[in-house]
Amino acid sequence: MKTVLQTENLTKSYKIGKMEVPALRGVTLEIKQGEFVAIMGPSGCGKSTLLHLLGGLLSPTSGKILIDDEDLSKVSDAQRTDIRRRKIGFVFQRFNLFPTLTADGNLKLAEKIHTGKSNGSDTNRRDVLRLLKLEDKMHHKPLELSGGEQQRVALARAVINSPAIILADEPTGNLDTENSQIVLDMFRELNEKFQQTIIMITHNPEAAAVCSRIIRMRDGMIAD
Ligand SMILES: Nc1ncnc2c1ncn2[C@@H]1O[C@H](COP(=O)(O)OP(=O)(O)OP(=O)(O)O)[C@@H](O)[C@H]1O
Ligand SMILES: [Mg+2]
Repeated sequence: MKTVLQTENLTKSYKIGKMEVPALRGVTLEIKQGEFVAIMGPSGCGKSTLLHLLGGLLSPTSGKILIDDEDLSKVSDAQRTDIRRRKIGFVFQRFNLFPTLTADGNLKLAEKIHTGKSNGSDTNRRDVLRLLKLEDKMHHKPLELSGGEQQRVALARAVINSPAIILADEPTGNLDTENSQIVLDMFRELNEKFQQTIIMITHNPEAAAVCSRIIRMRDGMIAD
């Protein structure tokens, strides 16, 4: 299988005033198409930072990120945004739903933003919402949804355009066992049927167990 995502000696430091907070200290990894990868590690070890870098949402301090052999550091901001919209579905640790839009409205917006659909989609809003057991919540706004329901809407939004790569930051973090299972089943189905590459941060060993590989991080580095 071809490599879809690659990093070379990736580092990221955040600046707070005059202080530098090193979050990643040199991460080199390679992810092939169709892999379902879990990222695990203690709080603060840099998992979300790595995922945001992989998704082109943050710029690295040094090092390289390649998506389908395109070097994210060598393209313009506009091109990077375009690559992200075409190829990546992102599930944030904090959901980032539009508060004034309903669940369905949030999905519609994601579809609209995603211009130039390249990979034919087998899913549509209603199917995705049904899959995540949210049909009767379509017309609710985020504040009219529970945390777990918001989490599932955020997930629906990430997968609605059938992105080649799904990056998910603790997608089962707010869910009970039953709803975690719904989410993991959906990921597994997308992964198996459509060879979508999935990278998921999780603290949950049961969630990690469905993955084909586990990357363990510690202190901004890959431990294992
Ligand atoms: N915007 C920011 N500004 C400054 N420091 C930050 C920022 N975001 C993260 N950090 C710091 O970078 C380090 C890594 O943070 P990160 O969010 O990547 O951790 P994490 O592994 O995702 O943790 P968690 O499991 O708690 O979500 C932490 O020390 C954190 O305090
Ligand atoms: Mg995090």
